[in-house]
Amino acid sequence: MSRTESLRNIARNATRPDYLPVMARKVAARLRPSHRDAALRWAADVAEDLGEFANSLDAALWAEAEEWSREFRPLARARLAALGVELGGGGHFQLVYFLVRHLKPTVVLETGVAAGWTSSAILTALERNGGGTLYSSDFPYFRLEEPERYVGCLVENRLRANWHLGLKGDRANLAEFLPAIDRIDFVHYDSDKTAEGRSYALETMAPKLASGAPVMMDDIDDNTFFRDYATTASARTRVFARGRKYVGLAGL
Ligand SMILES: C[S@@+](CC[C@H](N)C(=O)[O-])C[C@H]1O[C@@H](n2cnc3c(N)ncnc32)[C@H](O)[C@@H]1O
Repeated sequence: MSRTESLRNIARNATRPDYLPVMARKVAARLRPSHRDAALRWAADVAEDLGEFANSLDAALWAEAEEWSREFRPLARARLAALGVELGGGGHFQLVYFLVRHLKPTVVLETGVAAGWTSSAILTALERNGGGTLYSSDFPYFRLEEPERYVGCLVENRLRANWHLGLKGDRANLAEFLPAIDRIDFVHYDSDKTAEGRSYALETMAPKLASGAPVMMDDIDDNTFFRDYATTASARTRVFARGRKYVGLAGL
């Protein structure tokens, strides 16, 4: 897509109800310092070996997660290539699948859907567990034309019955989801990467989090939010490398 097309889509999407406040917050966040270098140094320093951690919890399930992601990756790539749009890379779908299989949650809340790599992982794992509901919050990529049509495009139809998908951004989506949820058993955070966005979402969902419910967060090296959270959180926190990026996990 050309730069002109992107700019035209951004301008068009800004006129949609619900879009402008989220877009304005994103622009403002870009102007604040993120201390990314410090975040990267800290994450690299404390990172653990993911295979060792997962195998210590359940080696058979980690092998199952590896097998599922080996099968899923080429299918998903082929589907996205056929669509011909750039929806960005997925979250750590193998780890997400593993954790949902291991924890057997009744309710999972995720933020950040995009193409739906992690939504597919969560819903497939819930199906294999025998049940569970996923609430997913997204804000469609506003550089695309009619971006809503792409959100979660990797998720198979048969997995959608127990899936609630909100497209108005985390603040509005959480306000809609939370009154309907008694208890959240697992959170995967992969949406607004600013410290403010992360902090707002975690604080807002806290009253509904089951005691000790694990929270996984992607791209923690974007800023120092997770580093600071790790020093104050009562739960055990861990960091794993994913290529040159890092994911954080609290509560396991
Ligand atoms: C890195 S992608 C998520 C990838 C996804 N977990 C996967 O595995 O395919 C981030 C997504 O979060 C969305 N997003 C960004 N800011 C958001 C906000 N304030 N509220 C909700 N979603 C947001 C982006 O538009 C994008 O769809």
